Amino acid sequence: MGKLTKKVVLVVGGGSGIGAAIAQRFAAEGADAHATSRAAMEGVSDGPWGDGAGRLRTVRADAGSAADLARVFARVRAEAGRIDVLVVNAGISEHATLGSIGEDHFDRTFGLNVRSALFAAQGAIELMPDGGSIVLVGSIAGAIGTKGYGVYGASKAALRSFARTWANELAPRRIRVNVVSPGPIDTAMFDAVSDAVRDGLTKLIPLGRLGRADEVAAAALFLASDDSSFTTGAELCVDGGMAQV
Ligand SMILES: NC(=O)c1ccc[n+]([C@@H]2O[C@H](COP(=O)([O-])OP(=O)(O)OC[C@H]3O[C@@H](n4cnc5c(N)ncnc54)[C@H](OP(=O)(O)O)[C@@H]3O)[C@@H](O)[C@H]2O)c1
Repeated sequence: MGKLTKKVVLVVGGGSGIGAAIAQRFAAEGADAHATSRAAMEGVSDGPWGDGAGRLRTVRADAGSAADLARVFARVRAEAGRIDVLVVNAGISEHATLGSIGEDHFDRTFGLNVRSALFAAQGAIELMPDGGSIVLVGSIAGAIGTKGYGVYGASKAALRSFARTWANELAPRRIRVNVVSPGPIDTAMFDAVSDAVRDGLTKLIPLGRLGRADEVAAAALFLASDDSSFTTGAELCVDGGMAQV
């Protein structure tokens, strides 16, 4: 029996990197997982989904578009009737220091990172039975002041704030809301990063390496499942200790 057997899961931004690792792990734990991506080929993905009960369906949608999200909710409602677990993972991280920040940079970052969380959560709670779980993918950038990532950090701090408020608002329905906040994780986000920057970052991580997407998925699974039944409004950092010690 998987930790999410018979649970209907929606991963907003589940086509690559951390989001794909979460969707695949959840399907392997028995979930009926729906994962959105702008590039998705619609359909059911093959995979070693645990005891066979799990399934991974991909849905083409832009996480930053409230209209696309509304279409995704209509589709999940028709196919599965409910959402037990929502994960909002979509996010972009662009470099700009104060003095060089344009409106485009701000709008792109908040328009995806914050907008997707707000409208995904708002849509999902209509379909979420009592006892559901919402997991937002934040970042330790929301808690530390990384030069050049002020807007990104602020967008992730907004998610941390949303989680506190929504945990309070949804507690009467026993819906838990938590944040999983990665440190540097070796995904496509690091493709454009030079070896020198990567080495410099690694030196800042007590465990001495970048993290893996599956390590974030394991933490997200804890927050999504009944293993964390008394945890809400919390942030779980998966950062090799970078922002903790
Ligand atoms: N990697 C890290 O070191 C790290 C550290 C802390 C936090 N995070 C957070 O983890 C999450 C996933 O990042 P990742 O490292 O797995 O990177 P990734 O593979 O590049 O994934 C980025 C995700 O955001 C979506 N996305 C990107 N640009 C978009 C746009 N313009 N419009 C709509 N959707 C867009 C992608 O969806 P599509 O499939 O539609 O492209 C994808 O789901 C992000 O929220 C990120 O902030 C990552």
